[in-house]
Amino acid sequence: MAKVRKAVIPAAGMGTRFLPATKAIAKEMLPIVNKPSIQLIVEEAAASGIEEVIVITGRGKTEIVDHFDAHPQLEETLRRAGKEALLREVILPSQMVKIATARQQRPLGLGHAILCARHLVGDEPFAVFLPDDLVDAVRPCARQLIDVFESTGKSVVALMNVPREETSAYGIAAGTLDAKDPRIVHVHTMVEKPPVDDAPSTLAIVGRYVLDPSVFSYLTRTNPGRGDEIQLTDALAAMMVERGLCGYLFEGNRFDAGDVTGYLLANLNWARRVPRIWAAIEQYVAAHPGSSRR
Ligand code: UTP
Repeated sequence: MAKVRKAVIPAAGMGTRFLPATKAIAKEMLPIVNKPSIQLIVEEAAASGIEEVIVITGRGKTEIVDHFDAHPQLEETLRRAGKEALLREVILPSQMVKIATARQQRPLGLGHAILCARHLVGDEPFAVFLPDDLVDAVRPCARQLIDVFESTGKSVVALMNVPREETSAYGIAAGTLDAKDPRIVHVHTMVEKPPVDDAPSTLAIVGRYVLDPSVFSYLTRTNPGRGDEIQLTDALAAMMVERGLCGYLFEGNRFDAGDVTGYLLANLNWARRVPRIWAAIEQYVAAHPGSSRR
């Protein structure tokens, strides 16, 4: 079976949930502690064995590509100043994986964004990372999915149990549990953001996928769906019927960094790893119990 070497990161959305911050800044560049959130995504990709990342960009997103490029002038300044630790941090993003880009001229939906990478992916399986979804896991989330893809030969979506009242915010999948691995679900139903009463389960699709390249032909045949956008879930539902599809209840904590609350929680999660910052946060919270009315 072909190795999963490539990943697509669709980053051409408009980020309306984060306005006004995202009026002139790509939301993928908002920092988690001191790194743009998209760097955490590319770090997960590299740690999962991905060699080439294709970022789907749109208007106002060029700074993402700059972040993963070399910056000789800045590197030289840091080198001359003897700031070796900072120099390593600045160089790292340009060395983790090979980066390619494709442009989505109009935000016609997630499915359409992935279709924009078709000529760069070619005829091999690939991973998709939605950059809003940050996953803190011992074994990288994408690696967990790649292992399932390699053992089952079927495309795989990441799944997470959510409270029933939240099902209308997600793509929802339902299916039967695998006899050997209770984290694997053989998916038989998929629906994008169903009304709560119509949700076929509480298994939400989270932003990690490993897909067979045949998904591109399903995407070309997918008509605009919910929100008049070409939905990835609709193409996967058609693929599921003909080729089968697995879900995987991944191990790890997921944060929705495309939403203000989720973003702040993600910052707290990663700040816990920096004792100096975490001590200051604990001190602040202890001195300011309850909510502020100002
Ligand atoms: P979302 O539906 O979350 O849209 O897209 P968004 O614009 O990023 O954010 P909000 O909801 O308006 O705040 C899911 C993922 O698909 C990408 C987005 O960049 C995001 O990573 N996407 C979406 C595209 O690349 N192109 C599109 O046309 C739509």
